[in-house]
Amino acid sequence: MDDLARVKERIEQLKAQINYHNYRYHVLDSPEISDADYDGLMRELKQLEEKYPVLLTPDSPTQRVGAEPVAAFGVVEHRLPLLSLGNVFSTDELFAWYTRTSKLVTNETFKLVCEHKIDGLAVALTYVDGQLTTGATRGDGFRGENITQNLRTVRSIPLSVGKEAPPRFEVRGEVFLPKAGFHKLNQERAAEGLPLFANPRNAAAGSVRQLDPRITARRPLDIYVYALGYAEGGAIPQSHWERMEYLKSLGFKINPNNVRLSTIDQAEDYYRNWTEKREKLPYEADGIVVKIDSISVQDLLGDVGHEPRWAIAYKFPATQAITRLNKIAISVGRTGTLNPYAVMEPVSVGGVTIKQAALHNEDDIRRKDIREGDLVYIQRAGEVIPEVIGPTPESRQSPERGKEFSLLEKLREISKEKWQKNQPLCPECGSEVYKPEGEVMYYCSNAACPAQVQARLELFTSRGAMDIRGIGEAMAALLFEKGLVKDVADIYSLKKEDLLTLERIGEKSADNLIQAIEGSKNRSLARLIYALGIRHIGEEMAGILAQNFSDLDDLAQASKERLMTIPAIGPKIAESIVTFFKQEENLDIIARLKKAGVWPKAEVAKPAELPLSGQEFVITGTLQAFSREIAHEKVKALGGTAKDNVTRNTNYLVVGEEPGGSKLTRAQALGTKQITEAEFIKLIGEG
Ligand code: IVH
Repeated sequence: MDDLARVKERIEQLKAQINYHNYRYHVLDSPEISDADYDGLMRELKQLEEKYPVLLTPDSPTQRVGAEPVAAFGVVEHRLPLLSLGNVFSTDELFAWYTRTSKLVTNETFKLVCEHKIDGLAVALTYVDGQLTTGATRGDGFRGENITQNLRTVRSIPLSVGKEAPPRFEVRGEVFLPKAGFHKLNQERAAEGLPLFANPRNAAAGSVRQLDPRITARRPLDIYVYALGYAEGGAIPQSHWERMEYLKSLGFKINPNNVRLSTIDQAEDYYRNWTEKREKLPYEADGIVVKIDSISVQDLLGDVGHEPRWAIAYKFPATQAITRLNKIAISVGRTGTLNPYAVMEPVSVGGVTIKQAALHNEDDIRRKDIREGDLVYIQRAGEVIPEVIGPTPESRQSPERGKEFSLLEKLREISKEKWQKNQPLCPECGSEVYKPEGEVMYYCSNAACPAQVQARLELFTSRGAMDIRGIGEAMAALLFEKGLVKDVADIYSLKKEDLLTLERIGEKSADNLIQAIEGSKNRSLARLIYALGIRHIGEEMAGILAQNFSDLDDLAQASKERLMTIPAIGPKIAESIVTFFKQEENLDIIARLKKAGVWPKAEVAKPAELPLSGQEFVITGTLQAFSREIAHEKVKALGGTAKDNVTRNTNYLVVGEEPGGSKLTRAQALGTKQITEAEFIKLIGEG
């Protein structure tokens, strides 16, 4: 076998493994390997494809990380229009819809499917000969935008489907940003002074419509498929429920909360049940969709205007409440940002008591015209972090209303009380504050401000950063207070004896902590960059930087110009990085981290060691547990190769029921090891 053929084989093997693990992780939510091992496979594939570009195909999982920026989105004509849904707002209306509809089909009773109405962005995905060829937005229902490159980056969208799929078909679904991702994104945007996304729908749309797919790739977008648009040349099930099952079997992600029901009363129960439980969902749902299951009944009913008669949306009531905004207080963030937040009269929203909410920045507060003493609407759109929407009309019009919010005024007020000075000062350390040109946030000027140092320690040890279990908010504060840790590098000089001097710490927890610190030394470069808490560098940006620099020294030496050659980096971020690495204290921290062995390099690919690496299998006869194709997939996923003919290179011939004569004879002639299906199953670790 020549070199290229060998590489090709390895590439195919890697693709099969990665696709399989993607499916486990993103569709089944049940990963089998660690993130690090997964990254290892991706790196190896990427390197091989870089070295042998002829072997790079558009369906490769590496192509999800984002191709070159698209100049502008093209237009896609939808073959069948993407409809919207009619709404009902009460149980009576829901029942009325059902009665009306059943009368139209001569009082037939029919099964219903209930689904969540996901708050995201509708997309249509076209597959031709098993490959994803086009991904489009809904647009006006007839023409949408071509966002194929961006949708390729959504891990739960299959880039290709099995041969059993129809030669040409279109599926429809909702692309969304889970609540956690939405909040993280907004927090990062607030820190950068960018306008916030009002809801997950806007955030998903904003992410998917990025001109640079690499940015889309960094957002944790997900999809639930909810319809088959059309299918050509394949037998397709004739009920919605079975169609969803069918799409699931092709690898599409279907919401596990969908149900098939027999009566409209049950649909009403589904609605009531989820109205209460929706807070706990990891995604935002704004209601339920009730669909008639039978496709022939759907066809009979048809559409009216842009809406099908066979489906209806029943929205959840809003989780809003009104309460008094007692005052606006200020906290100090890790980069010294002075963050305003609302302190409110405690109020229960959707079963959770709320008394505080982030207010992001002065501009946002003024834009919403939020003032101390106002009655305000607050909203918990299901997530943990509540949002202040704005004052009630009564408060807005009240003649006794408070003054428009001014951050400097507020700081002056606090420092009068706390430091007896008539100046806007940091509410934590009393240092001067400043606002960089073109930014919306004010900052504390003292890098040694205890609140900042503690927040930096917290960030450094947090889960998305160096992930040091055992150092959370309270522990970071304690270590700092006792003078054991003055900056993040000090963490690596901590000794067990130091920890034992702390009241709450015993032998066992001291050992655990030391071990956790030691373990954090081999975190990735992306995590370390993020952990440093450079202004404007969130996880997304840290990931991009780690792809472009070999280590922290390389990044520290980068000029503003070099940084700005990276498409996602503009002048503000470049400036922030250069400024960070100019500061003596930071260079000192980095030098000490290096000395302590906290020095990740940009990842270099090394072939993953897998249980069947270097082993070649041939299967003859019929297997009971799975088809031959699946058996081949399994072998490949474990690092082995699967062939159709026995050669000198074959290590095992798996002998199933009614084996073919020629393979057996050849194996006997060559002395190839023969194994039974049971032995094979053991070998692949499933026995
Ligand atoms: S079915 C013809 N199912 O709601 C029926 N839509 O207002 C087409 N949506 O544009 C839609 N979750 O973006 C359907 N489970 C679900 C949905 C869903 C969210 C969105 C979809 C559509 C809008 C209609």
